[in-house]
Amino acid sequence: MTSFSEILKTATWADHESAEDESYLKELMGGRLSTEEYGEMVAQHYFAYLALDGASKALAGHPVAGRFVFPELYRQEALERDLHTVYGRNWRARIGPSMATQTLVARINQVASWPGGYIAHHYTRYMGDLSGGQFIRMELQKIYGYGRDGGVDFYIFDEVGSLPRFKNEYRARLDALDLDEREQQRIIREVKLAYQLNTEVLAELLHSVKAAA
Ligand code: HEM
Repeated sequence: MTSFSEILKTATWADHESAEDESYLKELMGGRLSTEEYGEMVAQHYFAYLALDGASKALAGHPVAGRFVFPELYRQEALERDLHTVYGRNWRARIGPSMATQTLVARINQVASWPGGYIAHHYTRYMGDLSGGQFIRMELQKIYGYGRDGGVDFYIFDEVGSLPRFKNEYRARLDALDLDEREQQRIIREVKLAYQLNTEVLAELLHSVKAAA
């Protein structure tokens, strides 16, 4: 029988392709954006992860959702270091959540009381950061010359240890969920929505970058 982690990945891979193909990422990976334009994505991550990590902290004791709470994944402090590196000491005054980020944050908060909803958004972000995010980190380090002291700390998960081992454990936890067909489909729909909302954040970034050009 196909495991839920495989079903989920297969059912949402086309949505992943759309996220991966987003033009902002192409411009970023192509080395065509300034550090401040890169910083705009870091800033949007900051607001999204405040919501996501906040949901995790609130759910730590939950019997089901709590199995997907990993303090070693929390990103707030890493993002603060990155924002400091990009924008300097006054970084807080330079950033704000975009409309698309506000929509994403509202959705995360709205579904956080449903374990499947929390897991859907958690999976879409963190499994991505631990996968393609590692490729993005290497490219950003080449493009901007960031080392390990701020700039791309968001993508560095030293406390996690072996990423392949962690991802296998994560998939095992997805497979251990007691889900009927209906609930599986509901989670798949939420992951698709999470991809869409995250892709819209990237699309909006490109508009603001182009508008400023
Ligand atoms: C340059 C952009 C990207 C590249 C090159 C990329 C690449 C990859 C690759 C190669 C994998 C498979 C890793 C594995 O199976 O171990 C993966 C998995 C994943 N990516 Fe991405 N990705 C990118 C952007 C994104 C974005 C923007 C998101 C979310 C918004 C995302 C979410 C995910 C998720 C959730 C997985 C885990 C799928 C699973 O194993 O169930 N990725 N990515």
